[in-house]
Amino acid sequence: MTDLNTAVVAGTGAYLPEKILTNQDLEKSLDTSDAWIIERTGIRERRIAAEEESASTMAAKAGKQALEAAGVGPEDVDMIIVATSSPDVLFPSTACFVQNELQAFGSAAYDISAVCSGFLFGLSIAEQYLKTGRYKHILLIGSEVNSRIVDWTDRSTCILFGDGAGAVLLKRVEQKNASGVLSTHIYSDGSLSDLICVPGGIGRTGINKQDIDDKKYSIKMSGNATFKVAVKRMTQVIQEALQFNDLGIEDIGLLIPHQANERIIRAVAERLKYPMEKVLMNIHKYGNTSAASIPIGINEAWRSGRVQPGDTSVLGAVGAGLTWGSAVIKW
Ligand code: COA
Repeated sequence: MTDLNTAVVAGTGAYLPEKILTNQDLEKSLDTSDAWIIERTGIRERRIAAEEESASTMAAKAGKQALEAAGVGPEDVDMIIVATSSPDVLFPSTACFVQNELQAFGSAAYDISAVCSGFLFGLSIAEQYLKTGRYKHILLIGSEVNSRIVDWTDRSTCILFGDGAGAVLLKRVEQKNASGVLSTHIYSDGSLSDLICVPGGIGRTGINKQDIDDKKYSIKMSGNATFKVAVKRMTQVIQEALQFNDLGIEDIGLLIPHQANERIIRAVAERLKYPMEKVLMNIHKYGNTSAASIPIGINEAWRSGRVQPGDTSVLGAVGAGLTWGSAVIKW
């Protein structure tokens, strides 16, 4: 690793499907209420992919926007990483479909599976390739069609999730610590794999009718236990990122957290003694879009001018696995 290279966010993009599913819509088919969902999660509506859309089609749209914003042509992309836990098919990777759609044939394209922490795991990989000088341009995308892997009869999970994609084009800049990704920290704890999972077997048991009938190919979650560990791990890993960079919380202009539950985000901000006005919140519009949530937030902050050159942001996420991570970006 050389100190001469930094990994800079040169462009961002996002794609949110047109169809909006409101809490009121859910009230019609589930024993739930708009008031309960808002009070317990902060979510008011979420986006649902159209029949012809998938993780790859949404990722390609978000990725194209990020390339255009960065002024980088598809032929100059060295690597495409798609973070997704709702891939188009088991294989090939969703990233290969995205590569084809973008005509970015000079790149290595592959998926990573770290669920809601997927974008930060991908950022950590991209950071290494750019800082070592191996690659110049990496397109990192988070894309999810959660609507296809939730059980729409399970009110404790289906109300939480939404579809969408977000992307960043990361560029190697040969300048010492000028800006860019200052650090990434990522962790996993496989002893907590049961907390949130899609338990239906593929390689383990083969896809089988019984598992389909038992709805094992949809998200199962221990909500309460996940909530507690999410608050603890996200707070810890953000604190670690601050310490690593010798920063105080007052040095952070914007916290961009994974949007899983407004109460989780508020609890983390409270523990960090960080004002909610400086926290990026869009969960009311999109729900939990898993790996897409942080890049959708970055795109929103970048395009609205909420982050300015010289500002420092911290990102944090917790997801199934259990996985968790943080990153510090100087814009
Ligand atoms: N509408 C109305 N009532 C609901 C409901 C819904 N959509 N979902 C659950 N309930 C009920 C439960 O059945 C339970 O009823 P009971 O007391 O009669 O048994 C009651 O509400 C309380 O359930 P509980 O699970 O304790 O609620 P909660 O306050 O923990 O909220 C979650 C549930 C799922 C919103 C919350 O636990 C959560 O967000 N957890 C974290 C999930 C997460 O972020 N996962 C992804 C991490 S990346």
